[in-house]
Amino acid sequence: MQVAIDGPASAGKSTVAKIIAKKLSFLYIDTGAMYRACTVIARNHGLDYGDESGILKAIGQDGIELKSENGEQKVYSAGKDISVEIRTPEISANVSQVSALPKVREKMTTLQRQMAGKTDVIMDGRDIGTTVLPDAEVKIFLVASARSRAERRLLDLKQRGIKSDQTVDQIEKDIAARDYKDSHRKVSPLKKADDAIEVDTTSMTIDQVVDRILSEIKKSKKIEENSTK
Ligand code: CDP
Ligand code: CDP
Repeated sequence: MQVAIDGPASAGKSTVAKIIAKKLSFLYIDTGAMYRACTVIARNHGLDYGDESGILKAIGQDGIELKSENGEQKVYSAGKDISVEIRTPEISANVSQVSALPKVREKMTTLQRQMAGKTDVIMDGRDIGTTVLPDAEVKIFLVASARSRAERRLLDLKQRGIKSDQTVDQIEKDIAARDYKDSHRKVSPLKKADDAIEVDTTSMTIDQVVDRILSEIKKSKKIEENSTK
């Protein structure tokens, strides 16, 4: 089974996807972490964030690997754990430029499909339901107000131990700018798939969102079972 979770920054995608993956023993794939890793690689090689061929070559050299260690998702590149580095405000501010590069997207999409081909999977990102896994049995589009997403992001940075002197207003502005870029790029923009279910998480707890998605997965499984009877 394939479950696709898309939506804007800090809508709660990765938090709920991780919980559901654990409950159902599905593989969880954080595609945002992959684009963040591309951005770290570009920075480490001293490349301009618009240098498509240079970035592509650097990704080929360093590689990107997602690993699960003690139930935690880790991102490795060039043999180094970059899981904390990919979340810094500097990388957040530049990831949308890198993720808009068509050839970088092509490479990541191929990798994502390869990973998803082997097992039951829950994948989160921006273009999973529309481009990466268009045949996913369950597609969810998570949204929430920009203010609540900024408040969540601030708390999240603190909890991850990432130092930031940004105020909630600045974070809200950054998030809005990133959402704009992600929604307006030419290739695979952030967009609700026609057959995705939209869930507004503004006043929902994490458990409520998880339950909502689990009920959609159950529904879809029942439909599948009935159709094979
Ligand atoms: O965690 P947050 O919602 O801030 O973002 P993320 O999921 O880590 O994604 C970081 C960035 O990667 C997004 O702002 C997009 O520019 C890009 N991205 C993308 O283009 N396509 C995806 N499938 C996932 C992320
Ligand atoms: O993956 P995405 O950027 O969509 O969001 P996230 O990293 O899963 O969620 C950002 C923060 O919001 C996390 O600290 C979550 O614990 C929190 N959150 C929440 O407070 N209420 C929800 N319903 C969902 C997430």
